[in-house]
Amino acid sequence: MEPIPKIWNGAVLTQLTSLGKVYLYDKVASTQEIACRLLKSEQTGLVVARTQTKGRGRFHRHWYSPEGGLWFSLALIPPIQMKKELSRITLLTALSVIEGVEELVPILNQKIQIRWPNDLVVSEKKLGGILCEAKGNGLVVGVGVNVNQISFPYEIEALATSLYIETGVEYNLQELLSKILERFQKYYSLWEKEGFGQFMSAIKERSKKIQNQRVVIELWLRRISGTVIDIDDEGRLILRTDSGRLLAFSVGKVKSAKWER
Ligand code: BTN
Repeated sequence: MEPIPKIWNGAVLTQLTSLGKVYLYDKVASTQEIACRLLKSEQTGLVVARTQTKGRGRFHRHWYSPEGGLWFSLALIPPIQMKKELSRITLLTALSVIEGVEELVPILNQKIQIRWPNDLVVSEKKLGGILCEAKGNGLVVGVGVNVNQISFPYEIEALATSLYIETGVEYNLQELLSKILERFQKYYSLWEKEGFGQFMSAIKERSKKIQNQRVVIELWLRRISGTVIDIDDEGRLILRTDSGRLLAFSVGKVKSAKWER
């Protein structure tokens, strides 16, 4: 298994420093927390770790982060018009990760999908996830990709997969990080210059087809069932509820509802 080598490739490092300061760690509680701290002192940057002891996902769920995966968080201070755009930035990051992975692993071309709002799935199993959080003046974009893990703990083995499990090959984590961030930087600046609409067709193409499916959306305190209409240009899931109302969700856990009304 190939962890992130202690010695970093100079070209990759040069590319990464255009995002701000780069912080590379062996083991941290969570790269997300370090990126949040950076923002508290108004700094931007990239935080990468070989392992996390308290990696976290959405709804404060534990995120399993052993050596062999790619775990990083970006601390960004976006231009004013992009500050509150958590759904859009999540989807744009997902697109960057998918394209970065598929360039490194051509055999997975067109096989990785976005499961709204933040999961990356292949063969119905989770390959990675994105966690975007607003912090003061900025945003923290956390990315986890299961890369070289050969197995998962019993509790999640039916739900998770890695690039190694899918292809039988180990991958260079630095190379993958560089490919993902190359796209992310490009798309982020295009978004700022030309708006978000240009990405919607690629995002929809890469999203798991859930139009017309009956789903239940779980929020913190309630569950709402209905039929999916679409993902709108703000990255929200549009649902026709069972009572006939059209609602737009920017957060929520989507479960398929097998039962009939
Ligand atoms: C999810 O699917 O719920 C999102 C998972 C996000 C995990 C990444 S790994 C790097 C960063 N640090 C964390 O603690 N979480 C994110």
